[in-house]
Amino acid sequence: MPADKPKFYITTPIYYTNGLPHIGHTYSTIVCDTIRRYKRMRGYDVVMTTGTDEHGVNVERSAKKAGVSEAEFVSKMATEWRALWDELGIQGDEFIRTTDLKHAHTVQWLFRHCRENGFVYPGHYTGQYCIYDNAYVDVKPGENCPDCGRPTETVTEANYFFKLSAFQKPLLDWYANHPDFIQPESRRNEVLSFVEGGLRDLSITRTSIRWGIPVPGEEPHVFYVWFDALTAYLSAVGGPTYEQHGYWPADVHLVGKEIIRFHAVYWPAFLMAAGLPLPKQIWAHGWLLMDSSKMSKSKGNVVKPRPIVNVLGMDALRYYLLRETVFGQDGNFSYDALVTHYNSDLANGLGNLASRTLAMIHQYLSGKIQRPDGLSPLSVVLREKFYPIHSQVLEHYDSLEFSKALESIWELIGACDSFLTSMQAWVLGGGDPDNWRPFWPVGSWQPVWQNPSPDEWKNRTPPNWPMEDEWTNSPEDRERLNSALTGLRQFGEHDLVEEFLYVAAETIRCLVVLAHPILPQATERIWKQLGQPDSISNQKMTELKWGQLQPGVHIGKIEAVFPRIEKAEAIERMEAMENEAQKQPSPVTAPAAPGALAAGGATAATPAAAEKIGIEDFAKVEMRVGQIKTAERIVGADKLLKLTVDIGTEIRQICAGIAQYYEPEKLVGRKVAVVTNLAPRKLRGVESNGMIIAASVGPEGRPVLAGFHEDVEIGSRLK
Ligand code: MSP
Repeated sequence: MPADKPKFYITTPIYYTNGLPHIGHTYSTIVCDTIRRYKRMRGYDVVMTTGTDEHGVNVERSAKKAGVSEAEFVSKMATEWRALWDELGIQGDEFIRTTDLKHAHTVQWLFRHCRENGFVYPGHYTGQYCIYDNAYVDVKPGENCPDCGRPTETVTEANYFFKLSAFQKPLLDWYANHPDFIQPESRRNEVLSFVEGGLRDLSITRTSIRWGIPVPGEEPHVFYVWFDALTAYLSAVGGPTYEQHGYWPADVHLVGKEIIRFHAVYWPAFLMAAGLPLPKQIWAHGWLLMDSSKMSKSKGNVVKPRPIVNVLGMDALRYYLLRETVFGQDGNFSYDALVTHYNSDLANGLGNLASRTLAMIHQYLSGKIQRPDGLSPLSVVLREKFYPIHSQVLEHYDSLEFSKALESIWELIGACDSFLTSMQAWVLGGGDPDNWRPFWPVGSWQPVWQNPSPDEWKNRTPPNWPMEDEWTNSPEDRERLNSALTGLRQFGEHDLVEEFLYVAAETIRCLVVLAHPILPQATERIWKQLGQPDSISNQKMTELKWGQLQPGVHIGKIEAVFPRIEKAEAIERMEAMENEAQKQPSPVTAPAAPGALAAGGATAATPAAAEKIGIEDFAKVEMRVGQIKTAERIVGADKLLKLTVDIGTEIRQICAGIAQYYEPEKLVGRKVAVVTNLAPRKLRGVESNGMIIAASVGPEGRPVLAGFHEDVEIGSRLK
């Protein structure tokens, strides 16, 4: 990187390795990745750090449960985290693991400085400890953790203490002098009142845990997980030699709101104690909620990113997360809204605009974009729309208002879309004047050369141009319109189709540059389809000007970047993959099966056709005769029926993908074969407790229900 580029350092939280990433973690990482891409396009030399927090009693327990060493456990989990970020196209620069040697050295070095400066002393501590949050909590013995609600444990141990109490005033002064240090405002207020309430010294080593970084010369002390994990931000960019690397202090630590205190109180205090520079900003975003509560493994309401990416693509997930959630606030996740936005904003919006324009360039200009020698008013209006949107989008990115940035970009997409529609009806739409009516180009009859001001022509109307409110669709009106259009089409040497398609393509070029940090994959593809050189990621946001489209280029191969998808089917596929993924064994205990997890369960290994199973395997499947009691359609799920089925011992609710072939009313009373010992799962949010057996017929897999030719008793076992 050239030395003259300003440096920018951003971090995600350093995630725990006792679980795999869900879309909550993905959200934080996608936001950082978006900022990283944006800052690069603003000319910064950016480093983004993410990584894994691998120490602590939780890992000790998980490794024991999996029957492997802690080192093996964390190494497999870290590989999974990295693989997922790679699959999602996350461009992290540093992946720090808290088990890295360079990190251990940094933690020990930081501790030495804090101690030498008189901020560390030995003592004992007894308290209620939450092993899930890795924190002592202020509750009585026997009470649960106030943050996560899980049981706490009473722990007494010899510790080294950090004199956090000495930093109340320095921290308050720091907050006062750096009003932007904690974002958003609500979190800043929360931290201020916490610190104003007084700070207690903090135990920063443990003797009750084995799996941690040793305190040099003080074994069996190991570092407390937060002293350890927070320091990862520094170890990633040089640790003790951070000055040579030049990225510290960090510009932004981006975290979820639940860990703001560790970042905005403990971390700056540790750094102050060691005499090190403090990060410039801590940004705490809200939570992604599922059914109105925080997504978490313990509640079993997590959504994994892979099924979404497999079905809709990574840009769809990025778009949805950044568009739907106001950054800083909590946001709800739903598959329904995800697919709705995909279809309406991406497939019908950006995707359709790009393919429509490219298809016309192909059809009318033999695939070659030409720069026109002048612009007519309709084009000027669109061009003039770009500039304010350009500056708004940059402002929104700067203030991390991604949702607003997308709204502004979509305003330009909307404008370009109407422009094309007008131009299609107006210039190409010859034949049916009805096509022209809704897109009346009032005042836009006269081509204006060399960048006219929109005011120059705005209020003019052509002399022979029928006014919209006068339009009667009479032969006379049509004649007047036709002659006006003919005049326009023949104006000078200028080819209006060439002009309008240049204008649309150029506007698309500009807007994909603006959208690139959020939609990296699709925008790069559109860029290439527009035949533009280099990579879109090398474009500079501030140097973006309307009119820089490389003319004379042939457009690339036209491919839909966001093909439309049927909602019910998409949701069904994602849910099925999600259910499948949940059944996958943990990557640590799983026998090495490369690719099985990488596909998010989508390609979960099925025995090869020739592979035989033993009778004991077959006997594991319990099938019984059931009788359908009720059957109804599920709103929004075209293929599914919700059935209640009597299986002899109970009545079960079962969803079956047969709605397109069976009328619900006709199923009532029918006897069917039911798999009764399948784990319950949700299909389109509806619980399904069992499976109805059906043949899958023909290339479309038409379901045909299995049945019995003789009368059979309900509940009889199939063997
Ligand atoms: N290891 C600590 C962080 C140490 S940082 C030095 C930790 N790890 S974690 O795996 O639990 O990750 C927590 C972070 O993941 C949150 O702060 C947030 O960034 C992200 N999220 C986890 N669940 C989330 C939601 N449901 N919604 C949004 N973000 C969430 O805490």
